[in-house]
Amino acid sequence: MLVPDILPWPARPLDGRVVLITGGAQGIGRGIAQAVLGAGGRVAIGDLDATAGRACLAEWQRPDDALFRRLDATRERSVAAFVEAALARFGRIDGLVNNAGIADPHAPPLPALDWAAWNRRLSSLHGAFLCSKHALPALSRSEGGGAVVNIASTRAHQSEPHSEAYAAAKGGLVAFTHALALSAGPAVRVNCISPGWIATDAWRAPARRRRPRLSRSDHAQHPAGRVGTPQDIASLAVHLLAPALSGFVTGQEFVVDGGMTRKMQYA
Ligand SMILES: NC(=O)c1ccc[n+]([C@@H]2O[C@H](COP(=O)([O-])OP(=O)(O)OC[C@H]3O[C@@H](n4cnc5c(N)ncnc54)[C@H](O)[C@@H]3O)[C@@H](O)[C@H]2O)c1
Repeated sequence: MLVPDILPWPARPLDGRVVLITGGAQGIGRGIAQAVLGAGGRVAIGDLDATAGRACLAEWQRPDDALFRRLDATRERSVAAFVEAALARFGRIDGLVNNAGIADPHAPPLPALDWAAWNRRLSSLHGAFLCSKHALPALSRSEGGGAVVNIASTRAHQSEPHSEAYAAAKGGLVAFTHALALSAGPAVRVNCISPGWIATDAWRAPARRRRPRLSRSDHAQHPAGRVGTPQDIASLAVHLLAPALSGFVTGQEFVVDGGMTRKMQYA
């Protein structure tokens, strides 16, 4: 008779896998990079901030498993060079995390917003397009299946005034995710995480690093009882990058916000 197995939970779900992480030198991206290393993977982090990138390599002391390249995810030549550098070093690409972006949603009121400022705030969407375009051929060859994880935001669904460009970028990333999942599958799965409030102060380059200054009410307004951390996003990213854990998951958006978008807002 056919008896379903009790399978061991993988201790190193990304063993031997290579993951590219844009904006990987600070904040949520650095949190994801460290979680990938902890899960047995190797990382290529690309970031505009070379000081922060070099600090990661110095602090991690994992020369065999980590590569940093200065990257502007909105420039195609820079993206192509980043992907080539990762392939030259590791010989394969199994995962891509499109995380780079301007984390500040606030902008001037729309009548005062110029074209360049609008475009700058759309950088996370532009970067996801360029990095996916250049990494897809290698991702498609990944044994077990490649995986893309896009970092959007709960601001794809909820807004404050004067955040149109950021909201459009993040809403665009959610839609880009399901569209690419259809084109790139079954060889490559594509999913998206929408973080809520994530405190990144402790994950900056050393000179700017500090403990988050958060009030009791900052924490208490979250149904989960606290503001989020980069590790909260990273643990789901590892899950979505690992074919053994999420091989049947694609085209989806996962909100990680301590329950904030499920809370009634009546005053
Ligand atoms: N922190 C939050 O509360 C929060 C919430 C929702 C979504 N997000 C999203 O998560 C992602 C990371 O945010 P964070 O808070 O960690 O930001 P952060 O500013 O702490 O880190 C972002 C990193 O990306 C790099 N970067 C920016 N533009 C880049 C580009 N064009 N090319 C390469 N690198 C670039 C920066 O140098 C920096 O190291 C962003 O896409 C942001 O919109 C953040």
